[in-house]
Amino acid sequence: MPARVLLLGGDGQLGRDIRRAHGEAGEPFILLAPGRGDIKLTDSAAMRTALGDIDFDVIVNCAAYNRVDDAESDRATAFAVNARAVGALADIAHGRGARLVHVSTDYVFGGDRARRDPIDEATPRAPVNVYGESKAAGERAAIEACDDHVVLRVASLFGVAGVGGRGGNFIETMIRLARSGAPIRVVDDQIMSPTSTRDVAGVVVRLLEAGAPGGIYHLVNRGAASWHEFATAIFETIGAEVAASPCTSDDFAAQAPRPAYSVLDATKIERHFGPLPHWRDALRRYLVDAGHLDES
Ligand SMILES: NC(=O)c1ccc[n+]([C@@H]2O[C@H](COP(=O)([O-])OP(=O)(O)OC[C@H]3O[C@@H](n4cnc5c(N)ncnc54)[C@H](OP(=O)(O)O)[C@@H]3O)[C@@H](O)[C@H]2O)c1
Repeated sequence: MPARVLLLGGDGQLGRDIRRAHGEAGEPFILLAPGRGDIKLTDSAAMRTALGDIDFDVIVNCAAYNRVDDAESDRATAFAVNARAVGALADIAHGRGARLVHVSTDYVFGGDRARRDPIDEATPRAPVNVYGESKAAGERAAIEACDDHVVLRVASLFGVAGVGGRGGNFIETMIRLARSGAPIRVVDDQIMSPTSTRDVAGVVVRLLEAGAPGGIYHLVNRGAASWHEFATAIFETIGAEVAASPCTSDDFAAQAPRPAYSVLDATKIERHFGPLPHWRDALRRYLVDAGHLDES
């Protein structure tokens, strides 16, 4: 088991739940979670100096430029944070004999438009937007620069840190729209793996404790849904008397194209840590946790 784990992006949705899961597991190792201002990811020389003062055995990188639509017109920032910074981190980890656990995304896929069965780790990357391209480049950089790497591909995350002033997450956006009484249109032609950061975080802490062979792993809740199906499940679970109308991605006209199908096959990681619960179960627990649903 590592003695000291350095968590980057520890204030994000996933990062906060990793800190929480670490506490719930009884703090089995020392978890260092510097704030965003302490380590400048986009300045590799400054990052090298800052990390030089920190003792660690593993880096867990949850930091990312996640604004999928904005990335289309801000390719430079997306690649600086999601690719170049990851390469620099990987190089530093390798030089220190440390493991790099890097978090990536289902959006490295989508280019195979005929695909309709869960995607495993051996499938070639084929991103359809700038965010996905930058994350794919980050994966390659992590793998090339650090021999002891773990790339965890997660998808469509929801976590309690997405509640409130952090821009929210899909569930919070749907609940806000339902309360506003505005008509709600949600795409039904993008099928994905809705995934709880709490469930991912639990596995990340177990992976840090127990170890697992290096490589790429898909880590998502069981089941799949279109965003429309997911929205409908949110409204049904909280008993909201609203219905989302289905629309196509073309109708919605988001800035960035999205994969039509990016459901991940998590069989490989399940062999080590068992399956994550179904997303409907994770959704119910999230709604309780976020105060939208009574425990009973
Ligand atoms: N959210 C999703 O649906 C989703 C889906 C698939 C994969 N992922 C991947 O999962 C991981 C975690 O996502 P998340 O939802 O937890 O993201 P998040 O809530 O946006 O958190 C990202 C973290 O990265 C930090 N960060 C961003 N730019 C930075 C920079 N230039 N320097 C230092 N820190 C920076 C953010 O700091 P600030 O809070 O100060 O901005 C935040 O703490 C990411 O790798 C993401 O690509 C996410």
